[in-house]
Amino acid sequence: MASPAETVRVFLMGKQHEVPKGLTIQKAMEYSGYRLLRGCGCRGGFCGACGTVYRVGSDYKLKVGLACQTVVEDQMYLAQIPFFPAVKASYKVEDLPPTAETIISLYPEVLRCVGCNTCRKVCPQEIEVMRYIAAAQRGDIAKVADLSFDCLMCGLCASRCPAEIVQYHVAILARRLYSRHIAKPAAHLSACVAGIERGACDADLDAMVAADGPKLRSLYNAREIEPESLESAGQE
Ligand code: SF4
Ligand code: SF4
Ligand code: FES
Repeated sequence: MASPAETVRVFLMGKQHEVPKGLTIQKAMEYSGYRLLRGCGCRGGFCGACGTVYRVGSDYKLKVGLACQTVVEDQMYLAQIPFFPAVKASYKVEDLPPTAETIISLYPEVLRCVGCNTCRKVCPQEIEVMRYIAAAQRGDIAKVADLSFDCLMCGLCASRCPAEIVQYHVAILARRLYSRHIAKPAAHLSACVAGIERGACDADLDAMVAADGPKLRSLYNAREIEPESLESAGQE
């Protein structure tokens, strides 16, 4: 941690705080006494819960970032967006054809895109949001699914869109349509499911059910996160 001299001033909900240099926004908030019950999840840049809008000093420019990934700067004025009031269609994906008409009937506002590219500029994942909205308009479901794959659902694109499109809900509809109606079943996944149904995991599951706390902790710490056998199966 920085020495007391190495601090920066940040403004949280309009109140000034002095925090050590080098902290992320999230850690600076906790250092200042906030307990993060909302707007904080994985702390690793994956869950999209910590969208944040900020300005620095007298610069007019509004910036955005993930609070768990963005390091504080002196005179940062910060506001959290743990939730964005976004319209969300309800549907049964199995009943929907994977077409432009499906997307446009559920989210007609996609046709209002003005091509400003603001969504791309604010996306912390550098996703080509404007391009996937264009693909959604023409019904290229596979393209939307591909371009939006790394979306964290942080909501920052929708918060700045002048056409009031909720891009990430359009994208998740396209990914659902793609996986339900277009993607071919994955051979390795089918093999895994068949193995589970034959009881391949029963002994391990029984051992976990019977384990006490310390044993469970040691099993958890020794787990394989991406077993090489699965990775190579996925590349076949
Ligand atoms: S911010 Fe909205 S209007 Fe602008 S390009 Fe993105 S989707 Fe279109
Ligand atoms: S596409 Fe939108 S919701 Fe998804 S990560 Fe980018 S800014 Fe966040
Ligand atoms: S807490 Fe999950 S992305 Fe920041």
